[in-house]
Amino acid sequence: MQPFSFQNPTRLHFGAGQLERLRDEVPHGAHVLLVYGGGSIKRSGLYDQVHAHLQALGAVVTELAGVEPNPRLSTVRRGVTLAQGSVTHILAVGGGSVIDAAKAIAVSARSAHDAWDLILNPSLITGALPLGVVLTHAATGSEMNPISVITNEGTLDKRGWASAHAYPTFSILDPAFTLTAPRDQTAYGLIDMMSHVLEDYLDTTTNTPVQDAWAEGLLRVLIDTGPKLVADLGNLELRETAMLAGTWAFNGALAMGKDGDWASHRIEHALSALHDVPHAAGLSVVMPAWMEYAAQERPEKLARLAERVLGVHRMERSDALVAREGITRLRSFWRSLGAPTRLHELNIPDTDIPKLAELSVLRGEPFGNLRPLGRADVEAILRLAH
Ligand code: NZQ
Ligand code: ZN
Repeated sequence: MQPFSFQNPTRLHFGAGQLERLRDEVPHGAHVLLVYGGGSIKRSGLYDQVHAHLQALGAVVTELAGVEPNPRLSTVRRGVTLAQGSVTHILAVGGGSVIDAAKAIAVSARSAHDAWDLILNPSLITGALPLGVVLTHAATGSEMNPISVITNEGTLDKRGWASAHAYPTFSILDPAFTLTAPRDQTAYGLIDMMSHVLEDYLDTTTNTPVQDAWAEGLLRVLIDTGPKLVADLGNLELRETAMLAGTWAFNGALAMGKDGDWASHRIEHALSALHDVPHAAGLSVVMPAWMEYAAQERPEKLARLAERVLGVHRMERSDALVAREGITRLRSFWRSLGAPTRLHELNIPDTDIPKLAELSVLRGEPFGNLRPLGRADVEAILRLAH
């Protein structure tokens, strides 16, 4: 295990009726910048509910609508302009994209630096407007972590950044708000959560039995819940399970004392920067191929995953063979949820592979911990994925 310090300051309000907590969390008379996406909250009625609560609090509301999936820097800058006036609080109502944009706006509104400069160099961040979240999509964990991912559409640089100032102060998680998420997005959310657990699980850190047990338990829950949920989207209990799993998969708990790997996420961000594919549609293509490529670095850990999580029986085979069957099963599982698992299924031609590799190393190489990767490795992984 690595030495670590842990603190997560986000207050979670989980369950039915928790939208009421806005009353305790938003001070009377606040000027709120309400950030949301392409309109799902209007169709579901949540927009009206949030407005009713804010009105009851005497809040002044300014809106930033239309945050796109894979949120763009230009949208963040629009939000910063709105927030730099008399706005006192930001409320993000949506999925990971909305929350991530709101985080970038929150830190930029309290800085003389441009948003992209802060993203490139988060040590410049010195504060943030208080940010609250009403989550509508179980996926990223952004509701309880200090991370945000923004695409600079000018340079095609989709970049994750983190700052202690970017934690939401509170997050309201009512599983009923996720009931309208369509089948494909629901499946992508489940895959994103699994990938977050796997990124921390498949690293080089040893003696992590506590973290490994948490990770394996969470993965087993998701493997049990996933097929039931995509077949029964209106099932509130399954939505509830998915929502808590998504938050726990990436709120820092599973990363305690570990390096994690995170190369698959770096490569996926290049895919969604260039082709604007949903994040976890890209992950379900990249991650199994990355596992194949990196498997020989720690075959015993992948074999353990295969046996304890993916139902592989060892039958006196080597770690390498057990690991290989595990990877095949993981790819089939994600496919069974309805996700693409090959690059061509995302309509990405193999002629794009060099460009994708170039975008993956924009932040320098090597990257990833289990098997440090350079540009040529990324090309090899994407060819395995094609
Ligand atoms: O924009 P609206 O109309 O709200 O529709 C969204 C969007 O089209 C829709 N949706 C969300 N909740 C819904 C709903 N539709 C119906 N009913 C609901 N209740 O779903 C679509 C996708 O939303 P989005 O927010 O983009 O999805 P997600 O939560 O998966 O976020 C993806 C973004 O987060 C980044 C990804 O790279 C991507 O940019 N990530 C952020 C992370 C973080 N901050 O910790 C970690 C992740 O690894 C990831 O990289
Ligand atoms: Zn992710």
